[in-house]
Amino acid sequence: MAVDLLLGLQWGDEGKGKIVDVLTSKYDIIARFQGGPNAGHTLEFDGQKHVLHTIPSGIFHDDSINLVGNGVVIDPVIFKRELDNLAKHNVDYKSKLLISRKAHLILPTHRLLDAASEASKGKAKIGSTLKGIGPTYMDKTGRNGLRVGDLELEDWKERYRTLADKHEKMIAFYDVDVQYDLAELEKEFWTAIETLKELTFIDSEEYLHQAMKNGKTILAEGAQGSLLDIDFGTYPFVTSSNTTAAGACTGLGVAPRNIGDAFGIFKAYTTRVGSGPFPTELFDEVGERMGKVGNEFGATTGRKRRCGWLDLVALKYAVQVNGITQLIMMKGDVLSGFDTLKVCTAYKYKGDEITHLPFNIEPENLEPIYTEVKGWKEDLTKMKDASSLPKEFNDYVDFLEKELETPITIVSVGPDRKQTITR
Ligand code: GDP
Ligand code: IMO
Ligand code: MG
Repeated sequence: MAVDLLLGLQWGDEGKGKIVDVLTSKYDIIARFQGGPNAGHTLEFDGQKHVLHTIPSGIFHDDSINLVGNGVVIDPVIFKRELDNLAKHNVDYKSKLLISRKAHLILPTHRLLDAASEASKGKAKIGSTLKGIGPTYMDKTGRNGLRVGDLELEDWKERYRTLADKHEKMIAFYDVDVQYDLAELEKEFWTAIETLKELTFIDSEEYLHQAMKNGKTILAEGAQGSLLDIDFGTYPFVTSSNTTAAGACTGLGVAPRNIGDAFGIFKAYTTRVGSGPFPTELFDEVGERMGKVGNEFGATTGRKRRCGWLDLVALKYAVQVNGITQLIMMKGDVLSGFDTLKVCTAYKYKGDEITHLPFNIEPENLEPIYTEVKGWKEDLTKMKDASSLPKEFNDYVDFLEKELETPITIVSVGPDRKQTITR
């Protein structure tokens, strides 16, 4: 069987957690392939809300295996917190959670390095979640990292010490005020490592290979979004991994020819948390309203998300880079009550009208060109099937499908698992 992908197409927080949870009943295995605890994936069902950071969003289903792939970076401390939370909800995670031995570990000093790096950047800071993501991926590509499989080696603590000592020298090099008590941080870290070691570590590429051979269905869950991709995002205001389709190949060890459907998920408008350019950002009451109705606060850091109209130029780019086969539109309910909606269909870039995402989307070079469409009045949150959706909403979806040349097969009309409509 092929591996299907679910990818965020904007700047993250599109609603990946919710949709992975919805789709899990169709899959035997849910596999995260990149990112780490910078992600915050929200699931809502039975009147309860859960936020996952590293653990795949299929974990609440009894029959699914959840795999943390080699491309993911794991902070044992945050991972333990997630496990404790699952235990509180009586989720028997031990039988259905597998960890790749090749996944890299986020050390306490990686988090400190992240803080030091951001502090040293001043106004140019990326707005990182400060979870140590950048420094951990730097150690991975620099060939210095510690991996989950290293925890099975006799000398792993010595390896840890060598790396942490080096990090401390690097923190001092930044010459910024980062206060810390490493002994205290390490106490928490050692405890968390023991919890992690109770889980099953596997050679995940071999596991997935066998699973595919045996006809198992697999869904790869992305974190962040295409515009935060290290290569294709709004660099340097991006994360440190490939969030796009290719990241699933390297982050799981799945060959490109074994990729099946690529589900691309987007909000009916746009949000961004952290720094960096955002052409359709709104600074007026319309943006405020989207943020308020959409409850746009980061699931990991609680920061207010910046809001703006849908940017079809950027979305088209993400559809192309990922080879999206089906689209999923989230949060249509948040746009109810607007007389007209704006959709950015081109950019005015250095005087010319263009319809592709250029190298630089900084505001001094670029201005969005909008197409206006009619809004809808109805509250969508109680709607259960496609036939009840208002005409103007369907017109909006049809317009996007045409522009993006890709079918929108699911629309989401609220945070709950049940507020999901298949078209
Ligand atoms: P993820 O990182 O892509 O998993 O998304 P987040 O969980 O960070 O952010 C999505 C937010 O929107 C969460 O608070 C969800 O509960 C909520 N959400 C998801 N789908 C919908 C929807 O269709 N309508 C509304 N109003 N909220 C939604
Ligand atoms: P999910 O999976 C939204 C953003 C941060 C910052 C930049 C770099 O929930 O969609 P990092 O911590 O990776 O060094 O931060 O990327 N960012 C996210 N924004 N959703 C996320 O994940 C994000 N993960 C990172 O705000 O701008
Ligand atoms: Mg999120």
